[in-house]
Amino acid sequence: MDKKKKLVVLTGAGMSAESGLRTFREMGGLWEEYDVTEVAAPEAWERNPELVQRFYNERRKQLLESEPNNGHRGIAELENYFDVHIITQNIDDLHERAGSRKVLHLHGELKKAQSSADPNLVYEIDGWELKMGDLCEKGSQLRPNVVWFGEPVPHMIEAARLASEADIFVVIGSSLNVYPAAGLIGYASHNASLWLIDPADVIAPVSRHIEIIKEKAGKGVTILTRRLLEEYAF
Ligand code: APR
Repeated sequence: MDKKKKLVVLTGAGMSAESGLRTFREMGGLWEEYDVTEVAAPEAWERNPELVQRFYNERRKQLLESEPNNGHRGIAELENYFDVHIITQNIDDLHERAGSRKVLHLHGELKKAQSSADPNLVYEIDGWELKMGDLCEKGSQLRPNVVWFGEPVPHMIEAARLASEADIFVVIGSSLNVYPAAGLIGYASHNASLWLIDPADVIAPVSRHIEIIKEKAGKGVTILTRRLLEEYAF
């Protein structure tokens, strides 16, 4: 039997919008209400860690009340036909909860905490609240396991390798404003077919043909699935 084609999907906040989680840069997005330098940067943690904890505790509480949507489920079902690898900028676990098995989190995971002294010390958070005084095994304050602005993106090399091996590369629900994640589409080989699902116009940093599906993730993934199954004659 032929080796399954490698389908690499880069997802952003729009992927989880239909699950009720806010995006960042749209009207009513998180960054309209919060200043990133106060809640999502190392200097914010230095200045006011309680405010940072509160911001992520609120988002964690909301995540625990959210469910995967049809978009998440549709991508999980594509594993029946393709070797699917998800590279997500999202810190939620909705891809995994929808059944996707290969998920690489570029910007961290909301349900985990990391040591302030040693980022390799990562722990599952029980419930939604991470508090000041919650310490790692080295006695250092636990912080959200999230990659903040200005911090290195640990899994970038792995993500770039995955993107370069893709037969099909799909971007879903990302404004492609934040690097290095936004540059991943540029690693896709010239033989790979490129797709983008977003209800709004998104400019991708590549000068080659991209199949645009101008829809929300739920409906967009259904259309993508139909077209890929036709194209690859399943
Ligand atoms: N389905 C698909 N896409 C959607 C939907 C939907 N239902 N609703 C909105 N979108 C699209 C928007 O049109 C926009 O292009 O999702 C995109 C969301 O863009 P951003 O809010 O900029 O989110 P993202 O690209 O994931 O941000 C990247 O920036 O703030 C940091 O670390 C954070 O990982 C995040 C990174």
